[in-house]
Amino acid sequence: MLEAHLNPNWDAATRKPEFLDKSVNWITKIAPSSQYKFLLDLGCGPGLYAERFNSAGYSVTGVDFSKRSIAYAKEQTLFNKSNIEYHYQNYLTIDYVEQFDVITLIYCDYAVLSITDRLILLKI
Ligand SMILES: C[S@@+](CC[C@H](N)C(=O)[O-])C[C@H]1O[C@@H](n2cnc3c(N)ncnc32)[C@H](O)[C@@H]1O
Repeated sequence: MLEAHLNPNWDAATRKPEFLDKSVNWITKIAPSSQYKFLLDLGCGPGLYAERFNSAGYSVTGVDFSKRSIAYAKEQTLFNKSNIEYHYQNYLTIDYVEQFDVITLIYCDYAVLSITDRLILLKI
């Protein structure tokens, strides 16, 4: 799965890099980091969006229950010297006291949740 995320020519797990750039650009326009600083990326995978959000000035927290993806994402923060917090966790069971200005859940993940899980997620 990690290989699929990281292959820039394949958009099975993560969309292609140009699409990521456009998406992040769009989000920065509707919710600029100057006003909406704290961003939570649910199902962040290996952090390809999180790194871009960090570069765009957000204070980023990423959550994913893929151990490999989170391990890779953490390695990338060291490599890029980016300041992103990652949690290896099921986002349906998070119980954060922190507040976030923007919460992303990217690549149709909401659509595949059951109605019960959608309600759990919306209440978190
Ligand atoms: C289709 S991938 C998208 C990854 C990333 N958002 C992207 O577009 O590059 C879905 C991701 O959500 C994660 N995921 C799915 N359900 C989850 C859950 N309940 N808690 C945490 N992560 C979850 C998967 O491990 C996977 O990394």
